[in-house]
Amino acid sequence: MIVYVSNDQNAIFGFMKDNYRWLAPVYTPLSRMVFGNQLHEANTCFLSNIPNKKVLILGGGDGWDYRGFQDNLTGKFVELSPSMLSKAEKNLKDSKLHFVIGPFDFKEKYDVILLPFVLDTFNDQDLEIFFSKVKDSLNSGGKVILADFFPSQNWRQELMIKTIISGFRMLAGHVRQDLPDYEYFFRSIGMEKVEEKIWKKGWIKAQIWK
Ligand SMILES: C[S@@+](CC[C@H](N)C(=O)[O-])C[C@H]1O[C@@H](n2cnc3c(N)ncnc32)[C@H](O)[C@@H]1O
Repeated sequence: MIVYVSNDQNAIFGFMKDNYRWLAPVYTPLSRMVFGNQLHEANTCFLSNIPNKKVLILGGGDGWDYRGFQDNLTGKFVELSPSMLSKAEKNLKDSKLHFVIGPFDFKEKYDVILLPFVLDTFNDQDLEIFFSKVKDSLNSGGKVILADFFPSQNWRQELMIKTIISGFRMLAGHVRQDLPDYEYFFRSIGMEKVEEKIWKKGWIKAQIWK
């Protein structure tokens, strides 16, 4: 069941416009074509550690990456794009997740918050707001798992990330022209990095913060 929420956070994190309507049908095949299994690995490499935990998956896209873990997934899957969300609901039909359209509302607490290639869709002002509230959304001992692109390690990656950023600005209305300094935001709220895995010499990383 998809739950529709409406709240004043829309003003902060963007209106519920389906920016991924055209991308949703091709998103995963395209990502597989360009990156092979690497983005999938980054999104899932820490997931075997989370059975019986209440999770929030924020901006989980079409949910395809989590299919192999759905028996262990309880909590909320929050997506801004209705097209992505309806695919996720089908891909993860055996999970115990609640599928919620709209931005994250900071009203509940979770054991694990997953941020899979979503923070680079926020501008710095939204990131300040998000990070000022994220700790209050974690249960004691809670963790955040981030997977995303980090600064390029060579000119090919630099060219590629510039193309990706421009592509998402054109096709999905992304606001950023660069990548956020994720670690600065985590550290600014007193969180520490406890584990990290890297791909492509550190251009792609998955990290656990607590
Ligand atoms: C670049 S895609 C990544 C999709 C997926 N996580 C993956 O790794 O394949 C970013 C996704 O985040 C969603 N999104 C962006 N801002 C969001 C927000 N404030 N709340 C929930 N979802 C959001 C978009 O609709 C989109 O599906």
